[in-house]
Amino acid sequence: MLTIALSKGRLAEQAIELLEKAGYDCTAAKEKSRKLILEDPNTGLRFILAKPADVPTYVEYGAADLGVVGKDTLLEEGRQLYEVLDLGFGRCKMCVAGPKELKDGKLDKIPNKRVGTKYPNITRAYFEGVKKESVEIIKLNGSVELAPLIGLSEVIVDIVESGRTLFENGLDVIETVADISARVVVNRVSMNMKSDEIRPMIEKLREQVAIMNDKKEES
Ligand code: PRP
Repeated sequence: MLTIALSKGRLAEQAIELLEKAGYDCTAAKEKSRKLILEDPNTGLRFILAKPADVPTYVEYGAADLGVVGKDTLLEEGRQLYEVLDLGFGRCKMCVAGPKELKDGKLDKIPNKRVGTKYPNITRAYFEGVKKESVEIIKLNGSVELAPLIGLSEVIVDIVESGRTLFENGLDVIETVADISARVVVNRVSMNMKSDEIRPMIEKLREQVAIMNDKKEES
């Protein structure tokens, strides 16, 4: 029996679709209900539906053998697990964003910056680790774009997908911090103890991802 932790919502739906293409019967996982554990004894797969930020926790502690979760969550949570596959969907960028006037290096000229974000660890690693600059990080829980508009911070660190939220609020990408997409993660003990189930699954998923990427290149 393999337990797979999925991030509730769109990532879970796309992960299930991919697993089905890879030949795994996910009828149980597609059940429309409020159940959080979806299990089909015939397939040997059990799905748990978790908040995205909790998926790495379930996998690190072995409550789930595998998980599908965004790279943003992995970077922020910093859990001990194996990241084995980039699934290629859920693509977006983690960016420093703010008023257009701060583009082209002008951001670097502002001392003692305040940065609003839902991702304090990613923000710290970027400004302190990469840019060698100390900033004040202000933790927010959503609608982060408000912060520079209302004078709470000079910039934000947040996910940019279509860019529409930034555009409609008169903000722009200033720097890119990381490319984000959905990843498969595996518990370190399960990788050894259940390798006869996990490794073939990773390979089948890898094949499907390659097919998906080929199709994208063709179109
Ligand atoms: C995310 C993110 C941005 C927006 C980016 O917010 O935090 O606000 O999506 O998408 P876009 O570039 O396509 O406009 P989410 O919808 O998760 O809500 P939140 O603001 O409550 O975090």
